[in-house]
Amino acid sequence: MTTTDKSKVAVWDLPTRLFHWLLVIGLVGSFVTISQGWMQAHFYFGYLLTGLILFRVLWGLVGTTYARFTGFNLSVAGFFRQLRDMATGSAAPVAGHNPAGAVMVLILLLVIGLQAVSGLFYTDDVFWFGPFFFDGPNWAVNMAAWLHPRLPMLIMLLVSAHLLALIYHRFRLGERLVGAMIHGRKSDLPAANSRSPVQPVALMFSLLAVAGWLVYLWLQPI
Ligand code: HEM
Ligand code: HEM
Repeated sequence: MTTTDKSKVAVWDLPTRLFHWLLVIGLVGSFVTISQGWMQAHFYFGYLLTGLILFRVLWGLVGTTYARFTGFNLSVAGFFRQLRDMATGSAAPVAGHNPAGAVMVLILLLVIGLQAVSGLFYTDDVFWFGPFFFDGPNWAVNMAAWLHPRLPMLIMLLVSAHLLALIYHRFRLGERLVGAMIHGRKSDLPAANSRSPVQPVALMFSLLAVAGWLVYLWLQPI
């Protein structure tokens, strides 16, 4: 890690930024396709999302400083301190996710992951069967039947909270977070450390794992 001047602190690496915007495309795609009845496309957007979540979990283990789960500043005290500071308008900008944002991110990843994986075991009982519906264990098929129609509402609430939090940061706390998810740098931090460089081996390993998983899904009969 290298310390840089105030104006340019590299925070989000390119893989994390690509992950984020592909996640947005994948999720919007999943909702649009289901609302239009385009089931084959719904499956493919769902596959993409399972691959993206798998990538993010691996990148949370082997990625750069602020993408790693160990860089997420998770603590109960930190979570409540962050909420209090946000309410009073005194929350200071942080390099990675703030302690409350980190919890939100983990919940988003978990719920979107559950939605996508449950789709693999789900069916409309007529024409369309997730690729693991027939061979999956009963508990997984039953759980998917419960989760897949219910979680979308929760996802919409979580995404709304995510967007409201960004608006709050912008207008109440004066923090521009969106640009950083596009170009990767934050400029309003006090002296802070830039992220570690991307390790090509870690990136290659993660991408290969995702590619293998997507090919495996692609080859499943549906
Ligand atoms: C995060 C990703 C996904 C989202 C947001 C999503 C969203 C939805 C929604 C909102 C529905 C309608 C639920 C209902 O009321 O029955 C649905 C249905 C369905 N989804 Fe997904 N889904 C995702 C991933 C998947 C995946 C990966 C598959 C399978 C490969 C899949 C297969 C199905 C099937 C078979 C239906 C039933 C369609 C019907 O009842 O007409 N989904 N999905
Ligand atoms: C479907 C909609 C969305 C979903 C599911 C979503 C999900 C996420 C997730 C999972 C992260 C954590 C990134 C990581 O560490 O890997 C994140 C962060 C972030 N997202 Fe989104 N996002 C959505 C829409 C948006 C939109 C529309 C914007 C901008 C207008 C946005 C801006 C950001 C920013 C700025 C961060 C970093 C927050 C921070 O500094 O802690 N997101 N989002």
